[in-house]
Amino acid sequence: MTTLLAALATANDAAPDVGEDHAQILEGLGARQKWISPKYFYDERGSELFDQICRLPEYYPTRTELTLMDRHLAEIASLVGPRAAVIEFGAGSNLKVRKLLNHLERPAAYVPVEISADYLVKQAEELARDYPNVHVQPVFADFTEPFELPSHPVMPARNLIFFPGSTIGNFTRPQAAELLAVMRHEARAGGALLIGVDLRKNPATLHAAYNDNQGVTAAFNLNVLRRLNRELGADFVLEHFRHEAIYDQGEGRIEMRLVSTRPQTISLAGQQIAFAQEEHIITEYSHKYSIEEFVALAEGAGFDAGKTWVDEDSLFSIHFMTAR
Ligand code: AVI
Repeated sequence: MTTLLAALATANDAAPDVGEDHAQILEGLGARQKWISPKYFYDERGSELFDQICRLPEYYPTRTELTLMDRHLAEIASLVGPRAAVIEFGAGSNLKVRKLLNHLERPAAYVPVEISADYLVKQAEELARDYPNVHVQPVFADFTEPFELPSHPVMPARNLIFFPGSTIGNFTRPQAAELLAVMRHEARAGGALLIGVDLRKNPATLHAAYNDNQGVTAAFNLNVLRRLNRELGADFVLEHFRHEAIYDQGEGRIEMRLVSTRPQTISLAGQQIAFAQEEHIITEYSHKYSIEEFVALAEGAGFDAGKTWVDEDSLFSIHFMTAR
C-alpha cells in the first residue's frame, strides 16, 4: 500500500477478509447443510490454482471466451464506441481487459472493483504503466453492493460494465438478478454491459471441467480449508476431506463439495463443528444458462438485449447489452 496507485485507490469499504467474516463462516459451517462462500477460495495460493485451472485441457470456459473475444472484439468495440470507462467487476485476468482496452477507441478509464486489495493494486499498477492514456482507478469494494464510482480527468462517453469469466455463474439465480441490478445502477443511463456466461451443455463435459485429471480443481477446493486453518486457527486435516463436483441438470449447476471421509470434529474460532462420515460442505455453485434464460434475467434487471456471440460448439457466450 505504498505506491501512488495504492494511495489513490478508492476505499469504499475496508477489504473484507476471512478474519472479519468469521461470523459468516461459522454460520455456514453451523447450518444443517454446511457451506462456505466461494469468495474465500482466492488467497494467493487459491488465485494461483485458479490460474492453473484456466489452462487445463478439460476447463473449456477460459480458452473459449478468449477465442470469442479475439474473434469479435472489433465488433464489440464498435458497439461500445469511443471514450468508454471500463468498470470491471472483480479484477480478473489482466489478459481479458488488455484485449478489450487494445480494441476500444480511446478508452477513458479503467476501474477494477475488487475486495482483495493486494491483487487489485498489483493488477492496476501494471495496467496503469502499460496504458498511460487510460485513467486507472481501482476501487476496493464488495461489488455485490452498490459502490461509489470515482471521477476521471477525461469525462467518459459511457460506462461499460465488464464481467468476463462467467463469474455470474457463481451466484444463485436470485443473487445474479440482484448483482445485474447493481451493474445496471453502476452503468448509469447510456451505459452498457459486456459479460461472459457459461452455457448449459452435456453433463459429461461439465463433469470433466470440474473434476480434472490432474487434481488441480481438487487442490483449489481443499485450499479453502488450509486458509481457514491459517487465518482462523481452525484444525482441518486436509487429507480427511475429498473434493467432489456434481452437475445437477435440473438446477443447471455444478455443485462443488468437500466431503468428510470420516466422522470428525473440527474446532474453529472457539466452536466445535461435527462432521458425519460422507457429510459435505458446499463450497461453490457454478450455474449454467441457456442464452434465452440469461438474456431474460438481464432484461429483468434493466438491460436491453444487444448482441450475443457463441462458439461453434455452443460452450460459452458473450453478451453486449445496453442500460435501459
Ligand atoms: C470463477 N468461476 C467462474 C469458476 C467457475 O467455473 O465457476 C470457478 C471454478 N471453480 C472450479 N473451477 C473453476
